[in-house]
Amino acid sequence: MRRYLFLLLLVGCGGSPKEEASTPPQRGPQQMRMEPHTGPPKGHEDKVSVERHRLYRLQGLPEEYAGRTNPYEPTPELIKRGEEIYKQHCETCHGEDGKGDGPTASGLDPKPSDLSFIMTRRIATDEYLFWTISEGGKPIKSAMPAYKDILSEKDRWAVILYLRDRFGP
Ligand code: HEC
Repeated sequence: MRRYLFLLLLVGCGGSPKEEASTPPQRGPQQMRMEPHTGPPKGHEDKVSVERHRLYRLQGLPEEYAGRTNPYEPTPELIKRGEEIYKQHCETCHGEDGKGDGPTASGLDPKPSDLSFIMTRRIATDEYLFWTISEGGKPIKSAMPAYKDILSEKDRWAVILYLRDRFGP
């Protein structure tokens, strides 16, 4: 009986150091949630490019993209141009309504982001979008093509104007 009690005590004590040990790792993610560009809110992880957000948050952008802002006004002509580019180059993966469900999307890992969602988030700055479209999936090894050799700078900014016009807040 005594031995049994002793065992019970041991088991009882075993629990608490374990709990303490598991506390510190939880602090990391909680602190990160306080930083700007904190990534997707809970429940929306499947709509956004989690790896890309992590890279942007931790490393910032290469010099040639950091701080870039759209030099073009959102004129109807340029938005129209952006729409044409979207249909020609982006829709196949990101889908007609930007949901990330175009015909080429299935089987991709990571999958194409839901642009209708991402364009409402704080992370969708000009520099972030311009870098993403220019360099594509290279920095995180995704299937997204790099458009810096395919589209002129003006066309890349035009598609950003279109995305803001259609999906922006
Ligand atoms: C071959 C498929 C494919 C094509 C075509 C494509 N993308 Fe993507 N895109 C992806 C994938 C996969 C991701 C998620 C991984 C990543 O961030 O690279 C993504 C991510 C993005 C993101 C980041 C969104 C976020 O979650 O932060 C933006 C913005 C974006 N794409 C815009 C575009 C635009 C604009 C075009 C057309 C000029 C385009 N994409 C063409 C596959 C594609």
